[in-house]
Amino acid sequence: MAIIKVAVIGCGFYAQNHLHAWKDLAKKGAVLVAVCDLDSEKAKACGNKFDAAWYTDARAMLSSEEIHLVDIVTQMDSHQSLAALAADYGVGAIIQKPLAPNLEVAAEIAKYAKSGGSWLAVHENFRFGTSMMRIKEKLEANVIGNPRWARISFRTNYDVYAGQPYLKTVPRLVILDLGIHLLDLARFFLGEVDHVHCETQQLRDGIKGEDTATVLLKHKTGSVSVVDVSYESKRVPDTFPETLLEIEGSKGSITLSKDQMMTINRGAVVEERFVGSDILPWTSIPWHVSQEAVLNANEHFLDCFKRGANPQTSVSDNLKTFALVEAAYEAATTGRVVRPKYS
Ligand SMILES: NC(=O)c1ccc[n+]([C@@H]2O[C@H](COP(=O)([O-])OP(=O)(O)OC[C@H]3O[C@@H](n4cnc5c(N)ncnc54)[C@H](O)[C@@H]3O)[C@@H](O)[C@H]2O)c1
Repeated sequence: MAIIKVAVIGCGFYAQNHLHAWKDLAKKGAVLVAVCDLDSEKAKACGNKFDAAWYTDARAMLSSEEIHLVDIVTQMDSHQSLAALAADYGVGAIIQKPLAPNLEVAAEIAKYAKSGGSWLAVHENFRFGTSMMRIKEKLEANVIGNPRWARISFRTNYDVYAGQPYLKTVPRLVILDLGIHLLDLARFFLGEVDHVHCETQQLRDGIKGEDTATVLLKHKTGSVSVVDVSYESKRVPDTFPETLLEIEGSKGSITLSKDQMMTINRGAVVEERFVGSDILPWTSIPWHVSQEAVLNANEHFLDCFKRGANPQTSVSDNLKTFALVEAAYEAATTGRVVRPKYS
């Protein structure tokens, strides 16, 4: 079995899931050799907990350790410089979403990686959620015919600001932080997008960006989807952190409802079952949905990296998702219909 030596850069809130995932992937040949955070307390705590060397400087780590793949789990402002550092050291890199603060910088990262021949993946994990993969299989098996309309929805009042206080201060909030995942799912299920309409709202006091967005997408196939996201949706029960789905096709429909229940309907219900995530020793309800998607995504990246293959969410693929984010913001600001820059 090929051994891939992995280092994680960024030991903050979400990196804990990546670290557990890499430990689980030891059985597939991943060896977590080192972790790095600018904050020495965080780096040391993660190094000790996950039995890895720890550093406060990524360059020093790359100079001292034999590393094949770095997993960058820092906030978006640092992604470009860390991706360049990885490329300079000739190691592969996985970068958490959003790839960059804006599409221009994301395109620069892609260009730099391409010119150096680096292997680069974007950690866009929602499409690797177990329920999403099961539904994709049903679509590919043509169970409901050609998808013609969809709603992809994530509405919650869960206090996301408690774990990620920086979300209160970002000027572009819910589309860039959360909508990006659902826009990726819209592409995953219905294909590339021709044009976009969007309305945003800021419903909570004391934050800088929009916390609610409704995006209307016309896909190149002629199908239409609605992506709606909110961090300020007062509903009971609150379904955080589940993405709910309705997809209508030429022969029937698929819905994914609360607790990851999939229903396939073709005139009558033909299948109804739980398609959700297992609870692992390190995952906890309700986060397990998101946490298991990290494991599945990293497993996919590890496998592609070993084979030198392009991951599903390569940087060039992710530029198409990022272009939808930018198109949505532009549509909301101008009140116009916007064509994404890449599709
Ligand atoms: N896919 C998902 O579902 C999901 C969920 C939450 C967060 N995220 C993403 O994960 C990323 C990290 O978010 P977070 O909430 O964990 O942030 P965080 O601020 O809690 O953690 C980031 C850590 O990176 C460290 N860091 C910053 N620059 C560094 C550098 N140059 N070298 C080493 N360490 C550095 C910081 O000190 C910090 O500890 C973001 O891009 C966020 O959007 C994704």
